Amino acid sequence: MNINVKDTDTVKYAELVRELHAGNEKKAYVLTFGCQQNEADSERVRGMAKLMGYSITDNPEDAALIVVNTCAVREHAELKALSILGSFKSLKMNNPSLIIGVLGCMAAEMHIAEKIKKSYPYVSFTLEPTMIYKLPELLWRALSEKKRTFVYNSDEGNVVEGIVPVRTSGHKAWVSIMYGCNNFCSYCIVPYVRGRERSRDSKEILKECRQLVESGCREITLLGQNVNSYKYDMDFASLIESVAKIPGDFIIRFMTSHPKDVSDRLIDVFGSYSGKIAPAFHLPLQSGSNSILRAMNRTYDIDKYLSTVEKLRAKVPGVALTSDIIVGFPGESEEDFLDTMSVLEKVRFDMVYSFIYSVREGTRAAGMDGQIPYEIKSARMTQLLDLQRQISYEKNLPYVDRVERVLVDSISKSGGPNTYTARTATNKLVHFDSDENHIGEFVNLKITRAGAFDLFGEKI
Ligand code: 5AD
Ligand code: SF4
Repeated sequence: MNINVKDTDTVKYAELVRELHAGNEKKAYVLTFGCQQNEADSERVRGMAKLMGYSITDNPEDAALIVVNTCAVREHAELKALSILGSFKSLKMNNPSLIIGVLGCMAAEMHIAEKIKKSYPYVSFTLEPTMIYKLPELLWRALSEKKRTFVYNSDEGNVVEGIVPVRTSGHKAWVSIMYGCNNFCSYCIVPYVRGRERSRDSKEILKECRQLVESGCREITLLGQNVNSYKYDMDFASLIESVAKIPGDFIIRFMTSHPKDVSDRLIDVFGSYSGKIAPAFHLPLQSGSNSILRAMNRTYDIDKYLSTVEKLRAKVPGVALTSDIIVGFPGESEEDFLDTMSVLEKVRFDMVYSFIYSVREGTRAAGMDGQIPYEIKSARMTQLLDLQRQISYEKNLPYVDRVERVLVDSISKSGGPNTYTARTATNKLVHFDSDENHIGEFVNLKITRAGAFDLFGEKI
């Protein structure tokens, strides 16, 4: 159901929390793991924190409220979140009034919620991502009733409008357009923790995008677990076209697309708004072997995937293609792995995010025969990274001497104080030096040098 936060108890509880603080300044610290969806959720969490009278801090030691927004996609992310959560124990010992809560995909897993209940007694609440608007209520219960609450498996599939986010950036914004996933890829925990697919009303999305553009936002990323499966009163192709028709100097990105829903009409719209819709398409392949794709329940085969790539390249020459690959899925033979390598050589992606298969309790693949030993998974990963590094480098080389219109993003972490990072329309990272601060502006750069993962340029 699509509801507005005004029609829930959220505002009432936010007001109650604010009254409890009785005008004392309190700070909230929000730590985010995982994907852009989590980043977007954290911006809404900060919005609710503000509503409850908290200001936002980057320092957990200053905080009266710590929220850890977790990721469950791979074990590594879970272990990291639990380890950081462990380190917050001493903060609670020093400051017993500190409230610590766990949000995000881990909070939706029963065994994790139970573990936190038992072994992390200083955590006041866990709250699964479909219910994030309940944060003020849980916080109020923790503060006023000293009650610990664990919300998981509630099976609620609402879309809640009207939570005003506190955005991290003024010039780029995430806009969630749909939530959840119905695909049940056999390795993936997401459908279990983020619930069934549900889309926002296009009127709400377009209103948000228009407001963003009016306030000077230069890059809008439409977000969804399967962004191109969006369906409300229109489909994704029509939605992105409507966003592209909003007047203003801004670019549109979107992620993540599922290959099964890349329609000809979407490809047509994608190529018909150059300058507005960025020529970058992230299209997770996951494996180059048809039998592994079947075991993964991906519902396409390599021929279908390659034909989509061909159509995209025919419509948008120079489109940057990126992908996700999993190595070491159960039953992946050496031959299956070599099939993946050969698809990488054939497609020549601009960049690939590759992951070692991680067993996720409760998914179908977790119970499959043929789990691959870690050393083999890891050796395959190294081989894949070596190949892709070379391809990415070769894809970046033609940029040298070109002039690119880039959006300046931030001060570069790797350069001096006058080095900035920017993104080309194709989403390549560029470093350049400038005496002036152009963050949030489009500038023209001449590309002078290329590496596998980034470009270097100078202002012209
Ligand atoms: N193990 C490894 N990688 C995974 N992904 C999803 N689930 C798993 C898992 N169990 C990867 C997929 C997906 C990306 C976001 O994370 O490649 O596209
Ligand atoms: Fe996970 Fe597959 Fe859904 Fe993506 S499409 S979130 S990989 S189940």
